[in-house]
Amino acid sequence: MSPMTAPALSTGIEIHGPLPGPKAAAHIERDEKVTSNCLGRVYPLVPERGEGCWITDVDGNRFLDFFAGIAVCATGHSHPVVVKAVQEQAARLIHAGGSDVYSPGYAELCEKLVSMAPQGSYSGDWQVFLTNSGTEAVEGALKLARFHTGRQRIIGFLGGFHGRSMGSLSVTASKAVQRRGFGPLLSGVTHLHFPNRSHCPAGVDETTWGREMALRQFHEIFTTTTPSEEVAAVIVEPIQGEGGYIVPPDGFFQAIREICDHHGIVFIADEVQTGFGRTGKNFAIEHWHVQPDVICMAKGISSGVPVGGFMAKATMMQWPPAAHGSTWGGSPIGCAAALANIQVIEDEDLALNAVEQGEFLMARFLELQTECDLLVDVRGIGLMIGLELSPKVKAAEWMERCFHRGLLTLTAGVNNIRLCPPLIVNRAEAELAFQVMREVLLEMARRVDVVGG
Ligand SMILES: Cc1ncc(COP(=O)(O)O)c(C=O)c1O
Repeated sequence: MSPMTAPALSTGIEIHGPLPGPKAAAHIERDEKVTSNCLGRVYPLVPERGEGCWITDVDGNRFLDFFAGIAVCATGHSHPVVVKAVQEQAARLIHAGGSDVYSPGYAELCEKLVSMAPQGSYSGDWQVFLTNSGTEAVEGALKLARFHTGRQRIIGFLGGFHGRSMGSLSVTASKAVQRRGFGPLLSGVTHLHFPNRSHCPAGVDETTWGREMALRQFHEIFTTTTPSEEVAAVIVEPIQGEGGYIVPPDGFFQAIREICDHHGIVFIADEVQTGFGRTGKNFAIEHWHVQPDVICMAKGISSGVPVGGFMAKATMMQWPPAAHGSTWGGSPIGCAAALANIQVIEDEDLALNAVEQGEFLMARFLELQTECDLLVDVRGIGLMIGLELSPKVKAAEWMERCFHRGLLTLTAGVNNIRLCPPLIVNRAEAELAFQVMREVLLEMARRVDVVGG
């Protein structure tokens, strides 16, 4: 990324000169000598402090953070309640392996998660296994589905992202670079198309279209490559994250639920990016009134301390002791952070704030769409907002130019910017982010016009 000088646009953002600043540049040089090239950082940013929706870097530049560590910091950076819980737990006990002893906070967090399980025809108990990350949550869920069904095959979706370990990578189908050179992966994985609600043809009923998209594709693979009686699980993100914040049409998940019920297949909802109030619900799959068999979670569960997990119907969780385990999964500090974080989400009604600020931002970007035809799609639910650009310009350029004006966003999918700010974001911050993005996009549009694009 080439350094550019840009004035700060408005109160709050402070950019003191070309980025990266001198301290950041020195740090980056040092870092890149000893760190793996695969890290591929999106910004030359060296954060030093975080508070709420704001990050200050080592040169004192202050950024408005609209990617929140990729949808991690639900309660913002270093929420005082989360900080206090972590500090107190660290002072009492840092380690007690959840697979070895009855680790502090483990049961309390699992009780809390179970109380959040989506309602549906199954009204029995749920049980939880805690991990350190989303990838491990997916890995465990896939193992559980195979164990429970005695079957091997798994169905995923093109554009889906579930992690990078060998099992989770086998169901990930987001970018070729994530898979290139790592085969053979798990055999028996089939990927289907994930429909985008925005592409529902005019005049066609969305629910019928979504349902048809699922039924047709499953019929096709069940009768050709993938016998249904060999399928252990379907794994799906309720809203595709890395794929570009793609919201599927109504009818799609209901049809998948019916197919799974009919064929004895485990329905795994990967809520790692969508969970914990980001879309206005505890879990995004609730928007479609569908109850999965297993839910994978991480990211927003703790706002930054490594903790994840998968929750399954208790009837499935009766695998034998030592069939699965983890040294650090559900660590005392992770559990303390997650419990405090979820408490803040509930006490401050952050799911509602996600809906209100999300609707505000969507409305602003829909207005911008009428002003600028480079913005071809505005979609999302709550504070998961996808902004798709015309191929005439690159989303990466939009992101980079916003960075130099002190706003952090992130690309996703083919040519989209995704916005996933902390759920505590307020109206003034939302408006500021919008203004920065609008100004940059209009600049890009003027250039395209000038060159006759
Ligand atoms: C939907 C989804 N599943 C799984 C993962 C992997 O999670 P982690 O990076 O915590 O291992 C991610 C990460 O972006 C994700 O978005």
